[in-house]
Order: sequence, then C-alpha cells, then structure tokens
Amino acid sequence: MNYNKKTIRDADIRGKRVLVRCDFNVPLDGDRITDDTRIVESLPTLEYILKQGGAVVLCSHLGRPKGKVNAEFSLAPVAKRLGELLKLDVKLAADVVGDSAKRLAAALAPGEVLLLENTRFHAEEEANDAGFAKSLSEFADVYVNDAFGAAHRAHASTAGVAAYLPAYSGFLIEKELAALGKALNSPERPFTAILGGAKVADKLAVIENLLEQVDNLIIGGGMSYTFRKALGGSIGKSMLDADRIPYVTQMIEKAKSKRVNLLLPIDSVITSELKAGAQTSICRADSIPDDMEGCDIGMETRKLFAETIAKSKTVIWNGPMGVFEIPEFAEGTRAVAEAMAACDGFTIVGGGDSLAAVNEFGLAGEMNHNATGGGATLEFLEGKELPGIACLLDA
Ligand code: 3PG
Repeated sequence: MNYNKKTIRDADIRGKRVLVRCDFNVPLDGDRITDDTRIVESLPTLEYILKQGGAVVLCSHLGRPKGKVNAEFSLAPVAKRLGELLKLDVKLAADVVGDSAKRLAAALAPGEVLLLENTRFHAEEEANDAGFAKSLSEFADVYVNDAFGAAHRAHASTAGVAAYLPAYSGFLIEKELAALGKALNSPERPFTAILGGAKVADKLAVIENLLEQVDNLIIGGGMSYTFRKALGGSIGKSMLDADRIPYVTQMIEKAKSKRVNLLLPIDSVITSELKAGAQTSICRADSIPDDMEGCDIGMETRKLFAETIAKSKTVIWNGPMGVFEIPEFAEGTRAVAEAMAACDGFTIVGGGDSLAAVNEFGLAGEMNHNATGGGATLEFLEGKELPGIACLLDA
C-alpha cells in the first residue's frame, strides 16, 4: 500500500474552510473525559490550520450509537475540552448535516472552530453513503483526515468524503505512518514484536505478517495458552481457542522456517478464581494443573522477555501479557512496559489495551511512539490497506 500521501503542508488553506476528521472517540465516565490523549494529539493539525488563516469544521464519531441520536454519545465533552486546550470557543452543532450545522458553518470565520455532532448519529456514516459524504463535503473547500484511530474504517467521514474534496493527511496521521512505516519497512535490527491479549483469533493475520518481518516474536497474554497447548502442554482451565490449534501449529512451523525466534511464556501466574484478591501461585507454563488457569506471565518469563527487549533496536507491542485490569495479574504487563521504557531502541506501543496499560503505569512518555489507534495499528501490521489513508491524495 502507498503511504506516501500529501499532507496539509501541501494544501492551500488561507481563507478556506477545512473539514477535519479526528478520532475523538475518547473514554468517558458520564460526561467526564478520562483520557484526553486523542484530543491533545489533534492540536498540531488544528493549530496549524488556524494559524494559516483557515476555518475548521471538525467531525468525529464517539462510541457506537448505531445510527441513532443518543445524548450519551454527544461530543459536547469533547467541544469543551478542545476549547480549553485551544483557548478559544469551540462551537458545537446540534446535528451533523442538519440545519444547526449548516447555520453555524455558514457563519464560521477564519480562525474559528466548529465541531459537528457525532457522525455515527446517522446510519449513513458507517454505510459510507455517498449522499451523506457529499453533504459533509459541502461544509468545506478542503478535507483533512487526522483520525488515525479510525483509518481502518471505510466510513463516509473517514473515506467517502474524499471523493468530493481535495484530501490531505493531518500531522497525526503523518506521525503515525512515519513511526509504524519505519518499523515495518526499514527496522533497525534486531526487530522484536510483542503480541498479547486474550484471543488468537484477533491476531491471526498480524502473526502471519509479522513472521515475515521480525527477528523475535514474543507471544504473551491469553493467546499464548493456545500456543502452549499446540506444543503438547497442559494448560488447565486457561483460555484456549481449540479451533485455532492447527493454525497456531502452522505458525510455529513458519517461525522455524523463517528463523524467527518465537518466545512463549515459560512460567505462568495461576489461580483457581479470576478476581481481585485471588490466591495466586506460579508454575511452569506447560504444566498448569487442571483446576487452575493462567492469568499472567511468571517471573522467569518476565526476565526472558525483558532480556530480549533490551537487546532489540526496534520493538513494537500490542496486547497485554495478562488480565492487567486486576492488580494481582498486572505485573507481567508492567514488566514488559518497564523493559520497553528502558530499551535504547525505537519503541512503539500499538494503541488499545497496551496503551491504556502504559498510561496507567505512567510510562507512555518513555516510549518513542504511542499509536492512538488499536484496531488501525493491527490492520497496518497485517499489511492491509487502510481506507482512511488510501483515499488521500498521493504525494
Ligand atoms: C477506536 O477507538 O479504536 C477507534 O475510534 C475506532 O472505533 P470503532 O472500533 O468503534 O470503529
């Protein structure tokens, strides 16, 4: 896929209206934003456009309101937080392409910012409806996509609208592509990928594609038990995707033939009940008793993984090593985050749960790059074309 795209630096935006698609899908507790990273990451693009004398019409989805207007998913908290960060009044339209949006957009002057309501209040957004995309395009002269986290979605505001306006990438997408592209296309070696998370099924294509690229593939988290089982181990009540054993066996063989060093947990933190305050012990990862389940990587594994990370020049990590939401099972994930933080190589945290974990441990600032999109990062690592990027003008 061609990631060499025109950026807003190439666009003439003085005195123009710029429709900017951001990923403002931020975590909320009621109407309180619990992590504003995605809003903060949008600032360079927005400040640039305002400084160039453009007016900004912003759009984004928030959550999954399934095509219906639902106040729970209003972008009002985002408008407020963005206004605080930009130090100006961010107007919020009461709708997406309706009267309110049209009236506010018509009155928008250079240097001003208007945020449209949640694009997913219309079923046409996810259907990538041409009429809806065209209506969005009528608010502006130029389209800028900066929603990296939603770039794997072929929706009206992330891709369809580019058929009606000259389309450029914003600085966040540019930054994400540079970091991920550097890792995949010209990594300094040794190149290590760390995959975790609950399900093998979510990572099938990623494992396959990464085995073509990396020197070390570390597998932890719930998905590692299916690998152990495929190798003949006893995994007790641990998470197992029995249907994927043939696939996993094939991947173990592929790792051998590609001379990729495949590292699996050698010991596991186990429990008979997966809950906070549970009694835990550690055992060999291939000898988990029948009435126990593995919930985190053990001490020997943490050491093994940390040694490999320390020797790496490029490391990319997606997916926690255990059930990190429960403190008793968070230490393996913390150990990987600390090893990444201490690594001298180029380190990338691939969004989603691993980024939430790194933020919780206060280590995000120690990484070279924190991807703002979990799903988008995975699809990038699978080698898939991202529709939100494919639709932009080639450089
Ligand atoms: C995300 O949070 O990963 C993006 O905003 C995409 O959201 P979605 O999975 O609901 O499309």
